[in-house]
Amino acid sequence: MAAAQKSPDYAADDLDALVIGVLGGTGEEGRGLARRLAMAGSRVIIGSRDAGRAVTATRVVGAFHHVPAAALLDPEVADVDMDVLVLGDDRQATDLVQALASRIPGMRGVYAGRLRNCGQVEALTANLVSVNRRYKAHAGLRITDI
Ligand SMILES: NC(=O)c1ccc[n+]([C@@H]2O[C@H](COP(=O)([O-])OP(=O)(O)OC[C@H]3O[C@@H](n4cnc5c(N)ncnc54)[C@H](OP(=O)(O)O)[C@@H]3O)[C@@H](O)[C@H]2O)c1
Repeated sequence: MAAAQKSPDYAADDLDALVIGVLGGTGEEGRGLARRLAMAGSRVIIGSRDAGRAVTATRVVGAFHHVPAAALLDPEVADVDMDVLVLGDDRQATDLVQALASRIPGMRGVYAGRLRNCGQVEALTANLVSVNRRYKAHAGLRITDI
């Protein structure tokens, strides 16, 4: 089902040419994301607070809110079976992040609105934590019919 929606049109070569900086890359979530993106073929630089201050021009995108670090970091997990909601005001930037998410086996990037809608996406994490507690899982989201 996840493969039904074509991911934004970025050639693998274009994605290979990117160097991805992960701010917060020393934390659980950042480390997990950096690991998966590197495994998918991207060059990744992990930033800590001082390095982050050097970044002056960025296009802001919200994504990966619901992706559990445990799944990203677990070497036993080959496919990270979930959709990633990508939010932002810049189409080029959201397309790029969708394409990057879709490079991680099992994952798919799905556009989910403008940056002002990030709040409710972040808030849904609390519900997923409840799902995880009840079902002893690392639950993710799937968007149907796209
Ligand atoms: N853990 C999960 O499963 C999970 C799942 C979904 C979403 N998230 C979200 O991902 C984010 C990080 O979570 P985490 O679990 O990775 O936390 P964490 O392990 O505590 O890591 C926090 C990271 O943020 C950086 N950081 C902290 N304060 C900063 C500041 N003032 N300026 C710049 N960087 C700062 C730290 O970098 P330095 O100390 O090296 O500077 C570190 O790399 C949170 O917003 C969380 O809600 C986490």
